[in-house]
Amino acid sequence: MSWIKALTPVALLALTIPSYGGPTTYPPAPLLVCPSTTKTAFAIGDRLISKWYNATLGQMFDGDFWVDCNTWEDFHNLMLDTHSTRYESLTTGSYLAKAALDPTTDWAAFLGGSNDDSLWAVLSLWKMADYRKWRREDPSAWLNAAATIWDLIAHEWDDTCGGGVWWSTAHTYKNSITNELFLLTSAEGYLRNGNNTYLDFAEKEWDWLYNSGMRNSEGLFNDGLDLATCTNNNQTAWSYNQAVVASGLGALYVATGSKNTTLLEQAQISIDATLKAGSGLIDNGVLRESCDDATLGGSICNHDQQLFKGLFTKHLSYLVSYASTPFPTPQSISIALKYKPFFTAQYTAITHNALNSTDDVGGVWYAPAGGNEAWQPEASAAGLEGVIAAAGYGKC
Ligand SMILES: *[C@@H]1O[C@H](CO)[C@@H](O)[C@H](O)[C@H]1NC(C)=O
Ligand SMILES: *[C@@H]1O[C@H](CO)[C@@H](O)[C@H](O)[C@H]1NC(C)=O
Ligand SMILES: *[C@@H]1O[C@H](CO)[C@@H](O)[C@H](O)[C@H]1NC(C)=O
Ligand SMILES: *[C@@H]1O[C@H](CO)[C@@H](O)[C@H](O)[C@H]1NC(C)=O
Ligand SMILES: *[C@@H]1O[C@H](CO)[C@@H](O)[C@H](O)[C@H]1NC(C)=O
Repeated sequence: MSWIKALTPVALLALTIPSYGGPTTYPPAPLLVCPSTTKTAFAIGDRLISKWYNATLGQMFDGDFWVDCNTWEDFHNLMLDTHSTRYESLTTGSYLAKAALDPTTDWAAFLGGSNDDSLWAVLSLWKMADYRKWRREDPSAWLNAAATIWDLIAHEWDDTCGGGVWWSTAHTYKNSITNELFLLTSAEGYLRNGNNTYLDFAEKEWDWLYNSGMRNSEGLFNDGLDLATCTNNNQTAWSYNQAVVASGLGALYVATGSKNTTLLEQAQISIDATLKAGSGLIDNGVLRESCDDATLGGSICNHDQQLFKGLFTKHLSYLVSYASTPFPTPQSISIALKYKPFFTAQYTAITHNALNSTDDVGGVWYAPAGGNEAWQPEASAAGLEGVIAAAGYGKC
């Protein structure tokens, strides 16, 4: 829609000034969302709920906890971005929300020891709290649950390989995603609660990640560390690893006063390395996970891996948002313009190659899967994320 194109940077700046009062949500919601793109998001969302959600259990049908946490975060993002109440039953009825509302929940037992999964739950709870705040209701149950979980993970930090939190409470692995999520939740947590313990951990975490060796010479974060040598284990560089570190750095940039542009430059290193032809993660401008294969219907990506591309789009959109907080700068505008064609390209690919007539989304975006698609709630959730990100940051 041309009215978005017509907005000059100056107009964007003027529109943003009222947010000085403090945003309703972190990262701040996009200033404008594209109505036609949003319509696609609601169609996919409605289908996810009608086909894949068991309201009695408060779970999506596969019951993949961390994916569910992300899916609930997505529904709340969609409501907050569009001022809609359409999926508000998830704020109290989802399995995670029910646990947050029950003061007797034993979180360590509930979470089962996967520290990365626990941190996805923190992000989901925060968006539920933001939604409650927007509805002028008390968000404290969700915020308290998130704080309890963050504390459990902060206790998973130790000196093995110089720092970092463990991937699980079994203490067998230190990896990228858990530590990137800890960077993000520590920096964003500080923005939310002003508690310096969070900020200290965010700074310590970035320092450790930067020096950990997990980022390879191409600028991509591999999966994790070889514990025997404390060096990069050279395992798969997944798409989501490249964007969660970027949203974490965006949050740290804002948490440290929106002055240290090095942090935004570091964030762009991993994003740009992903989008570069030949990175192994991109096919004609469209994300392609190493396990995506249109001829095999995407079936070689497991349920977890099916979500990764969607997470890349979501966390890149978070970086773009953080970069312009508390207000746009020439650098943040150039970041937004740089990635706009990417968001648009993912939307086009999802709607042309992956979305079907019943609004389910297949696992492969870069090419049509020719009837071999693996239809799963995780793949639909990834599509939902790509569409929501495009609604706020792509071409309308
Ligand atoms: C939802 O889960 C409940 C409890 O396991 C089960 O009894 C019910 O059949 C499920 N609903 C659907 C529509 O599958
Ligand atoms: C800050 O957070 C830490 C860790 O959760 C907590 O122990 C401490 O009491 C908090 N400080 C304040 C002032 O709330
Ligand atoms: C990872 O690759 C580097 C460079 O090829 C090599 O030196 C190192 O030994 C590898 N590490 C592991 C754990 O395989
Ligand atoms: C900016 O952040 C980087 C961390 O990547 C740090 O090394 C540097 O000292 C920071 N600069 C300032 C001025 O704080
Ligand atoms: C669309 O996806 C659903 C999965 O829920 C599948 O059952 C159906 O066959 C697909 N429809 C088409 C036309 O591909």
